[in-house]
Amino acid sequence: MWTGHGCCCFSTTLIFFTWFIICLPGSNGDLSYTIPEEMKRGAVVGNIAKDLGMDSKGLMSRHARLDLKGTRKRFCDINVQTGEMVVAERIDREELCSSKVSCSLKYELVLEEPLELHQIVVQVQDVNDNSPRFSNDDIKLEIRESAVRGARFPLTEAHDSDVGRNGIQGYSLDKNEHFTLAVHSNSDGGKRCELVLDKELDRETQQDVTLVLTATDGGTPPKSGTAVIHVTVLDANDNLPVFSQAVYKSSLPENSPMDTVVMTVSATDVDEGANGEVSYEFSRISDKAAKLFTIDSASGDIKVTGPIDFEDETEYEIRVQASDSSGLSSNAKVFIEITDVNDNAPVIFIKSLKNPVPENVLPGTEIGIVNVQDEDSEGDRPVRCTIQQNTPFKLNPSIRNYFSIVTTSKLDREEIDNYNITITATDEGEPPLSSFKTINLSVADINDNPPVFEEQSYSAYVSENNKPGSSVCSVSARDPDWRQNGTVFYSLLPSEVNGVALSSYLSINGDTGVIHAVRAFDYEQFRSFKVQVVARDNGSPPLSSNVTVSVFITDENDNSPQILYPTPEGNSFMTEMVPKAALSGSLLSKVIAVDADSGQNAWLSYQIVKSTDPGLFTIGVHSGEIRAQRDISESDSMKQNLVISVKDNGQPSLSTTCAVYLVISDNLAEVPELKDMSYEENNSKLTSYLIIALVSVSTFFLTFIILIIAVRLCHRRKPRLLFDGAVAIPSAYLPPNYADVDGTGTLRSTYNYDAYMTTGSRTSDFKFVTSYNDNTLPSATTLKRSPGDNSECLNFTSLDFTDTASKCSTLVNT
Ligand SMILES: *[C@@H]1O[C@H](CO)[C@@H](O)[C@H](O)[C@H]1NC(C)=O
Ligand SMILES: *[C@@H]1O[C@H](CO)[C@@H](O)[C@H](O)[C@H]1NC(C)=O
Ligand SMILES: *[C@@H]1O[C@H](CO)[C@@H](O)[C@H](O)[C@H]1NC(C)=O
Repeated sequence: MWTGHGCCCFSTTLIFFTWFIICLPGSNGDLSYTIPEEMKRGAVVGNIAKDLGMDSKGLMSRHARLDLKGTRKRFCDINVQTGEMVVAERIDREELCSSKVSCSLKYELVLEEPLELHQIVVQVQDVNDNSPRFSNDDIKLEIRESAVRGARFPLTEAHDSDVGRNGIQGYSLDKNEHFTLAVHSNSDGGKRCELVLDKELDRETQQDVTLVLTATDGGTPPKSGTAVIHVTVLDANDNLPVFSQAVYKSSLPENSPMDTVVMTVSATDVDEGANGEVSYEFSRISDKAAKLFTIDSASGDIKVTGPIDFEDETEYEIRVQASDSSGLSSNAKVFIEITDVNDNAPVIFIKSLKNPVPENVLPGTEIGIVNVQDEDSEGDRPVRCTIQQNTPFKLNPSIRNYFSIVTTSKLDREEIDNYNITITATDEGEPPLSSFKTINLSVADINDNPPVFEEQSYSAYVSENNKPGSSVCSVSARDPDWRQNGTVFYSLLPSEVNGVALSSYLSINGDTGVIHAVRAFDYEQFRSFKVQVVARDNGSPPLSSNVTVSVFITDENDNSPQILYPTPEGNSFMTEMVPKAALSGSLLSKVIAVDADSGQNAWLSYQIVKSTDPGLFTIGVHSGEIRAQRDISESDSMKQNLVISVKDNGQPSLSTTCAVYLVISDNLAEVPELKDMSYEENNSKLTSYLIIALVSVSTFFLTFIILIIAVRLCHRRKPRLLFDGAVAIPSAYLPPNYADVDGTGTLRSTYNYDAYMTTGSRTSDFKFVTSYNDNTLPSATTLKRSPGDNSECLNFTSLDFTDTASKCSTLVNT
């Protein structure tokens, strides 16, 4: 970038650098710096931080940024570490501003939080890095020898891209005898010159004159450019071409197509023939303009040859020259003003954006900054900028064409987790142009939802005697938050049940919410309890909620009925006295039983399963009341045994039996032996009686067999005698009601005595048998034998045995 301008530029730059950097704190806190063009990359323009009265940390934390208006290049940048503004790329004043005297770069320093804008103007000073240049360094002039002294011949102007003092300051001509130079100032500050004839030419002595024209600028050191003027001395006389106007002005809309004729310049030459033919050319034109316009040398039409952009340049100044064939020429100025056409849509720049934005931001929070630039609207024409309606965001106009994106309502990630925000910018041109930009904004999660149980409360029904470890019920809570903020863990709130820690009854699976029983429950111990289950998410801080789980233990039929009366255990026999005169339906006794279970499982029913005299007593199925079924008669056995089964209504049902002993008597004194009978004695007596009974029966049976054989042998002679005299069936083998007690008093008294002694026990039976055997059956007594006698006898025996062995025993009827 330096090479084209020689090594002297560097030292010049340094000098300018020290001289020109002036800091002028502008109004509204705006800054202005002046720098020479062509500074080295990285050179410091000024310390923004210092000039704004902040430290460089402040710049960094507020995301300081330089935005350059209009141009696509940046030229300068900010070093947030030091707070300095530095040159970022080559600044060529001539390229930037061409012939404009004042050349500046307008920056906006953007600071965020809060949004703050400072304007920074960098004035670019010209450095004399361009030499004067003639568009044609070989100037040809044809001058008639008749030309008088003082005749003037305009010369092509030299051009210097630099401005001001660095522009062309003068012309000089090398020493010669014929010509001098007249230098004039143009209205625009430039200089032009004319060749003035000082001494008449004589074609005969000198046909050609060669002169060197030097143009000098005012830089330090000055630069110069030269052109060689070839003057041909002619014979005839002629006139200069004359432009119809000294200044031509025209306006041209930007984006005009190629070959559009901008204007036509015309000059007339009063000469005739070739001397009157005028040709046109640009005598002074900037490099930029030379690429955009051409002039038709014959017609003087100025045409468009390149893209005309208002945003690039708004005005061109060109000098045109009309020359005749003999080289006589005159100049005119052409101003082409470019008019703006709304050809640029606004451009949207997202300057900053908080993305993702946490869902808990308050309405009105600024989440981003948008800048809109419209190259057409040079004069800060407003640009409208909007966000589509259906989002909770809006644009707040900030400073100039800056807008902040703010939230208008609360965000909820659980509802909408990302937004496509479309920003539309529309300018006020005719027709208006607009552009849009879509940004995708995600919403970040905040742990703002506690887990919520699916039900308000839970009930669990467990039957007692459950297996430890079996699942009781399952709770479930949902948390719509993201990842760990929505991960739910379950736990039981420690408490006590009946004074025992809850944890020894229940446990919960923290991940699944399944509640398990730790031990078997007993309905008879407690029927229900409540537990609090806490669901906690994994956020920080975590959120939790709780729910009550009521555990109901359901009854199982695991308790058999308990007999309270008659007392089942103990040695003494509960004996009920039944008056001899008891009538049918009178209440004689009552079995009282309870069941620890409940409901159907404790609904008891009573039943007589065995009795000495099945027709004599009934029991209320549900009351347990033992009543006489008929009137008690004298013939009824004094000793009555009942086996009663108490059954609950469970599935399966459990039952208990017990024995009730009834004595039909009006006087307890009639049964003295009852009281001193003990169970052990009975047992020992029982054994001895058994042996005696067996021996007796065997003896009797043998005798009986022998008798039968004898009878068979002598059947025909004495059949009846044998039967009547020898066959004696012991009453002990008959149920009492089958026994004939209507016979002699002896038998009866013996029978009664035994029956009283051991009501319900086998002892009495054997005693009876013994006594019966001891007393020989009187001849007068006849035993009436009932049908089915043998079977009855066996039944009675078996009843007695069962009775004794299973007194109040528990039977599980499965
Ligand atoms: C936003 O746009 C992207 C891509 O066009 C699309 O995948 C996404 O679903 C959109 N989001 C919403 C909330 O419309
Ligand atoms: C969970 O929420 C906290 C704030 O409550 C947030 O900082 C964190 O990023 C969230 N986690 C996820 C995975 O979104
Ligand atoms: C259970 O939740 C209720 C409200 O739902 C709350 O008041 C109570 O403090 C919670 N209990 C515990 C132990 O977290």
